[in-house]
Amino acid sequence: MIRSLQGRLFVGLTVVIVLSGAIGCTFAYMWAYNEAIEMQDSVLTQIGTFATNSPVRESKPVNGVDAESEVIVLELGNVPRGPSDERRLWSMQDGLHNGTLKGRAIRVLIRTRPDGSKFAVAQGDEIRSEIAGDTALRTLLPIGALVPCLLLVTALVIGRSFRPMLRLARELDARQADDVRPLAPGGAPSEMQPFLTSINGLLHRMRLMMDQQRRFVADAAHELRTPLTALSLQTENLDLLDVTPEARERLDALKSGMRRTRHLLDQLLALARQDLASSEESMRVELDRTAKGVVADLLPEATAREVDLGFTRSETAVVQADPVAMASVIQNLVENAVKYTPDGGRIDLEVFREEAMAVFRVEDTGPGIPPLDMERIFEPFYRGRKPSGEGSGLGLSIVKSIVDRYRGSIELENITAVGRSGLRATVRLPVVD
Ligand SMILES: Nc1ncnc2c1ncn2[C@@H]1O[C@H](COP(=O)(O)OP(=O)(O)O)[C@@H](O)[C@H]1O
Ligand SMILES: [Mg+2]
Repeated sequence: MIRSLQGRLFVGLTVVIVLSGAIGCTFAYMWAYNEAIEMQDSVLTQIGTFATNSPVRESKPVNGVDAESEVIVLELGNVPRGPSDERRLWSMQDGLHNGTLKGRAIRVLIRTRPDGSKFAVAQGDEIRSEIAGDTALRTLLPIGALVPCLLLVTALVIGRSFRPMLRLARELDARQADDVRPLAPGGAPSEMQPFLTSINGLLHRMRLMMDQQRRFVADAAHELRTPLTALSLQTENLDLLDVTPEARERLDALKSGMRRTRHLLDQLLALARQDLASSEESMRVELDRTAKGVVADLLPEATAREVDLGFTRSETAVVQADPVAMASVIQNLVENAVKYTPDGGRIDLEVFREEAMAVFRVEDTGPGIPPLDMERIFEPFYRGRKPSGEGSGLGLSIVKSIVDRYRGSIELENITAVGRSGLRATVRLPVVD
């Protein structure tokens, strides 16, 4: 059973076309053949009429009718004579008969003149069927030429009609997992409209569901911030009190726990907001300036750990985006570099333009990301198989969702030069002039 609709249509139509071609050919051939035979009979009759009035002395092919049709007129005389063939002919009645002459099958017309002498107009059966066959075959030419043409046209039409469907399928395949924009009908046949409408309805419901989920995360993160702030205040109040060294140790642990939780909530909120943001205002953002601002904030931590953090290239590169989102991209990447680079390491930052893209690049001297972790590294909460240090695993997801939103890209590569390791993170965003 053929699974493809195209294949089925084509096979079905081919069978119909070939069958009707064959039937048409058979009938056309038969009719034309019989017609040609009758034509030849009437030629014999005409020659007979002509020979009645002017006797032909010798048996010879009659020219002028059709040189190739080999019609001969045979004088049979008034009484039976000559070879047995001729005597047999003489004894036949006037009219058209099938007979034999010199061992060959013939069609023969017998006529008796007023004076009683008889003659025969004869033509070999072989030549007759050859001529009739030729004539009949020629009538098949148009049908024979039509069938391949029809097949070709059918194949073309079927191929063309299915193209919009294939285009839509390709479009869906090429989409990112969270791309739920409706499909554009663009030339799709009307039979496909119900299908398209259903798919678009499904995509719409999916978008609603995704939005709902994001809103829930955003709301939850937001709601949790208020009690967390109250808790932080209480901790700070505790901090002011004179407590035993043991209690102070606990208090410090509590404080860093609070800080981590606040960071996690901020990241969650940032991620949920990123995905929700669709009509958010965007403006001209100078990436180099934003990067400098972010780096200034992180410099104390880097310096404290003797990490050499600085720009090796800083050119003007302007993008059209939400400035908070851009700062978040840079912050998350530089934060990672600072966090995962061992003390005394080095972090180089670059901002520049490359063709139509603004490029931001961070290179550190940390351990890099194990190749096995690379595949899932952009997933929320994924921190690799052997997580180190504290973190939420949301940073790179936030970066990814932001650059995707602005039709940019992020690339992570491990630096594998001799005697050093590290990660090179490169963000590319469309530049504006
Ligand atoms: N510069 C880096 N060097 C080494 N590993 C990194 C670097 N940046 C990110 N990673 C790895 O990717 C994981 C995910 O990063 P991220 O999404 O920022 O989450 P987090 O930093 O909160 O763990 C990290 O846990 C870490 O294992
Ligand atoms: Mg991080």
